[in-house]
Amino acid sequence: MRIDILTVVPELLESPFQHSIIKRGRDKGLVEIVVHNIRDFSEDKHRKVDDYAFSGGAGMVMTIQPIESAINFLKAQREYDAVIYTSPDGIQLNQKESNKLSLLNNIIIICGHYKGIDQRIREHLVTMEISIGDYVLTGGELAAAVIVDSVVRLIPGVLSDETSALTDSFQDNLLSPPVYTRPADYNGWKVPEILLSGNDKLINEWQEKLAYERTKKLRPDLLKNE
Ligand code: ADE
Repeated sequence: MRIDILTVVPELLESPFQHSIIKRGRDKGLVEIVVHNIRDFSEDKHRKVDDYAFSGGAGMVMTIQPIESAINFLKAQREYDAVIYTSPDGIQLNQKESNKLSLLNNIIIICGHYKGIDQRIREHLVTMEISIGDYVLTGGELAAAVIVDSVVRLIPGVLSDETSALTDSFQDNLLSPPVYTRPADYNGWKVPEILLSGNDKLINEWQEKLAYERTKKLRPDLLKNE
């Protein structure tokens, strides 16, 4: 999978993909993540990427030309399955959407800034808009990082334990059961006996029961979506 991210603040995306599991996925060649500065595509001599809104009022709007040029540059090199725009207007990201995105080959993510991008980019170039929640961020970069993180870990081979993505919270519309590690007794705080029993069948049943109970208590809405 290849992910190209278009942003006016590339610095914001320098770190999130350089560590831990995402780094491992990149090092193994399972995903390529390339961050582009939209200014590099501006035909303006001052590398301008925004202008006043026709409607007036405060805030600048990102112009069409640099974004279209960046997309054309990328599309001349390979085919893209999706051009995503990060926006609070979009469909809300959830595990099901991340699963679907992880099956795509190449995607472009446009990070919005200022007051947003010219509506005509959304109409003619963007194929899907994704929100990471009902709140407004100062720009789309952190949203892009969240989308990429949730998608890349689902690409087969990225997680070392192949099954661990399958037991994630939300994977079956259930929250994860609680987990414990040594010591079995920390100053009187004890690990549930059953986990020390060595009986895999009973442990599995216990985990399933707790996953269901936790979901029912904390996120009953997930059970209704089935
Ligand atoms: N840009 C600003 N707020 C956002 C959000 N909630 N999700 C995605 N992109 C955004």
